[in-house]
Amino acid sequence: MARRAAKAIAACGRVGTVQRDRVGATELTARNHMVAVAILAAGRGTRMKSSLPKVLHSLGGRSLIEWAISSLSHIQIDRCYAIVGYGGDRVKAALDGYSDLEFVEQAEQLGTGHAVQQLLPHLEGFSGDLLVLNGDVPLLRPQTLERLLETHKQKQNAVTLLTAQLPDPGGYGRVFCDGRNCIKQIVEHRDCTTAQKQNNRINAGVYCFRWSELAKILPKLKSNNDQQEYYLTDAVNYMRPAMAVDVDDYHEMFGVNDRKQLAIAYQILQDRIKDRWMSAGVTFTDPDSCTIDDTVQLEPDTILEPQTHLRGNTVVRSGARIGPGSLVENSDIGENVTVLYSVVADSIVKNSTRIGPYAHLRGEAQIGEHCRVGNFVEIKKTTVGDRSNVAHLSYLGDATLGDRVNVGAGTITANYDGVRKHQTHIGNGTKTGSNSVLVAPVTLGENVTVGAGSVITKDVQDNALAVARARQTVKPDWKMKEEVRRMKDEG
Ligand code: UD1
Ligand code: MG
Repeated sequence: MARRAAKAIAACGRVGTVQRDRVGATELTARNHMVAVAILAAGRGTRMKSSLPKVLHSLGGRSLIEWAISSLSHIQIDRCYAIVGYGGDRVKAALDGYSDLEFVEQAEQLGTGHAVQQLLPHLEGFSGDLLVLNGDVPLLRPQTLERLLETHKQKQNAVTLLTAQLPDPGGYGRVFCDGRNCIKQIVEHRDCTTAQKQNNRINAGVYCFRWSELAKILPKLKSNNDQQEYYLTDAVNYMRPAMAVDVDDYHEMFGVNDRKQLAIAYQILQDRIKDRWMSAGVTFTDPDSCTIDDTVQLEPDTILEPQTHLRGNTVVRSGARIGPGSLVENSDIGENVTVLYSVVADSIVKNSTRIGPYAHLRGEAQIGEHCRVGNFVEIKKTTVGDRSNVAHLSYLGDATLGDRVNVGAGTITANYDGVRKHQTHIGNGTKTGSNSVLVAPVTLGENVTVGAGSVITKDVQDNALAVARARQTVKPDWKMKEEVRRMKDEG
């Protein structure tokens, strides 16, 4: 994998750690305002109709729960818990890189209030605030959480939560406030009367609680509602002062409960990502036809043509032109590279190289500067030096090529003997003729020439010509003799 790209994912995996590490031991005792975080991630997500826990569904390069974690990036956190239950082992494994995340089991999923009840033994005597996020709300901005915490502290509320006015509030809990944003009541959609459903101010599922007060109320929650669950929203109804912070961009509040909402969240995210890159100097000739993961890095003056899809830890450097019709995943694309109708995965392409049309680079291919990889060429786990060409119809696997190598049309490295893979080495300035087969393990020295149609099974020294094919036989006047024989046969 591209080194820079690998670094990027490591950084992403450390989001939680970075938070935690910023809080030194002395600071912990000196600061009087402690913040613990709970990310609710135990639910099955029945409406997704999936064997994968809902919070692990992927959205633009990160899982839903990783998005929730990344929204914490501006906040100083003292403890961070993920409440897990359905598919808990899978959730834990997926979040392995977040070393400071603690997992708390909710064996039976009896509602969001029940999920937070699981923290009672862990936060005994804790005197700070508990920030609760639903693991299925991926589009929250870090600045919004900062604002929530600020308001909570300033107003000294018992609970402060995020709300938004949605054009279509169906499915969300409705929040009823007085004129000063003080909460009177929260009612779940399915428990609302027809009149209450007209209120389009919704609960985002993001709350800041004074823990000492919440801890007293949690054991008293009842499940006398339509779903017979213990609702965290009921706790809000018992706490005062309770205040709502309205968020201007209601998209941030978008919760993902089914596949349609997942697709809508993806669209919102894509718009955000493309807007960001266009402001940073990237050209999209047809933005709607492209998809870009949030983990991708683009330099100014890159051009993304229609139907270009960039995934994972991809970096595209200045002056590169990707597409039309290309997929680039976990790869580092150098300056002024072009990638036309091609697939590049887990690979590095250095400056000013041309890829495609119809090329496939995969499995740690590394292509040097000023190279050309052309039509119907597949390159796997192979390093190609600078100014080398693999222009047509080739397969190169488990090979190293020097500089200025010319791989003739149809050259194949036969790298697999049915059991193991073997290496091919090709020195600087070597040329292979069309339709050569290089049977690995084999080494061609520098400035070697391989005759067209050769099957090379032995090493070739520098500056040699290697021809390994049957000699041509020519039989003069063969056609005439054939005619005479036929006439005789016919009498
Ligand atoms: C919840 C809120 C609703 C709000 C909406 C915002 C409640 C009762 N309702 O509804 O007011 O408008 O979020 O998106 O809180 N979970 C657990 N354990 C459980 C149940 C759920 O950890 O026993 C987790 C889920 O994995 C999910 C989150 O809590 O990440 C929210 O649960 P979900 O069932 O999606 O609640 P909503 O119906 O969306
Ligand atoms: Mg939900």
